Amino acid sequence: MRNFPDLFRFVGSAGMSALVGRRIFSCLWELTYRCNARCAICGYWRNPSKPNEEMSLSEIQEGLQKIYAYGCRLVNFTGGEPTLRRDLEDIVKYASGQTMWTSMVTNGSLLTRDRLNELKDAGLDNLLVSLDSTDSRLHDEHRGMKGLHAKVTNCLQWLAEDFLTGHRTGGLMCALSNLNIHQAAKIAKFADELGVYVVFQPYHDKKTGNTQLNAEMENGFIRHLLRLRSEHKNILCSESYLKGFENFYRRNSQPSCCAGNKYFSIDPYGFLHPCVDMPGVGHVLRDEISVVRSPKALAPVSVCQGCWYTFRGESDTTLSCRGCLEKLRLGLGIIMHNKKRNVLNHRNLKRKRVAARLQDEPSAKACI
Ligand SMILES: C[S@@+](CC[C@H](N)C(=O)[O-])C[C@H]1O[C@@H](n2cnc3c(N)ncnc32)[C@H](O)[C@@H]1O
Ligand code: SF4
Repeated sequence: MRNFPDLFRFVGSAGMSALVGRRIFSCLWELTYRCNARCAICGYWRNPSKPNEEMSLSEIQEGLQKIYAYGCRLVNFTGGEPTLRRDLEDIVKYASGQTMWTSMVTNGSLLTRDRLNELKDAGLDNLLVSLDSTDSRLHDEHRGMKGLHAKVTNCLQWLAEDFLTGHRTGGLMCALSNLNIHQAAKIAKFADELGVYVVFQPYHDKKTGNTQLNAEMENGFIRHLLRLRSEHKNILCSESYLKGFENFYRRNSQPSCCAGNKYFSIDPYGFLHPCVDMPGVGHVLRDEISVVRSPKALAPVSVCQGCWYTFRGESDTTLSCRGCLEKLRLGLGIIMHNKKRNVLNHRNLKRKRVAARLQDEPSAKACI
């Protein structure tokens, strides 16, 4: 999305997709299963995809056209590590050109300032960089990559300085497991100080089979998260999404899952999944997209104990008139917030320039 007319068109048609039964709302597109990190919370790196078996750019473009025609207005690009794909900017540009809201999450290891700006120019609307801990040693250890924390910090600074203009959002994404749950407040503060947004999601053991990493998310912790949300205006998670963490932890009945009906996932080979952790049921180029809501696709969804990934939880909280209005209010709040931040940044920059000039030219000081 690159201009205000695009934005208005998007708001209207995304609202329709959220509210009209047959239209699908959003897609999580895993562009690759390759990854250069070795995270404790994730299993993708153990089974990488082969580059020559992944979808090509033209196939992805055809797939984007097809899902757009089916109503999909939000596409979240992820992986594996999506920045390993050299055509990432072209993929984003194509999706954005169709007035889809585009989002991406990365471990930040391969992002440069130039590449960030290329993604911005391609129309990326939301960019999240994963961070597990404010402690550099712990982050690098959890991710199996030395020096990654420093790279993520650089990415967040570039995001604050270059990316967060207009309606754009970006910042850090933190999966809360028992490795870092005690750090939630520090992480929110860290993002606030850097001037970026933050998104939390609970760790889910489906990706690793490791239940030891499940964090205790009882009522007290949820109250803590809600308090953080009211203290730090940069936490993007909605209140109802945060409240859902406890149900998820207790494996209590979640609101019924709309996987397959309102959101779905595509893997690097093009297979369609009702949900990212469920088996493929068809192919984006060879089958109708509606296969994701076939009885075969929905059978495992009906017995699922539920995840609470941001992608799912925040989509669920949008699927009503009230939810759409909440997201619209959030969007307007972001535009105002970004505007205020940019004015402040601009003033600071101006002040710094004047100070530098005064230092260089003492005579200028005498004139003031
Ligand atoms: C699967 S990763 C892919 C994108 C990229 N490689 C990255 O790490 O940001 C997307 C997000 O999911 C989070 N994640 C990984 N494994 C998870 C799990 N088992 N439960 C919840 N979130 C997880 C990551 O921390 C990251 O923020
Ligand atoms: S969380 Fe991201 S960076 Fe870590 S192994 Fe999984 S895909 Fe790679």
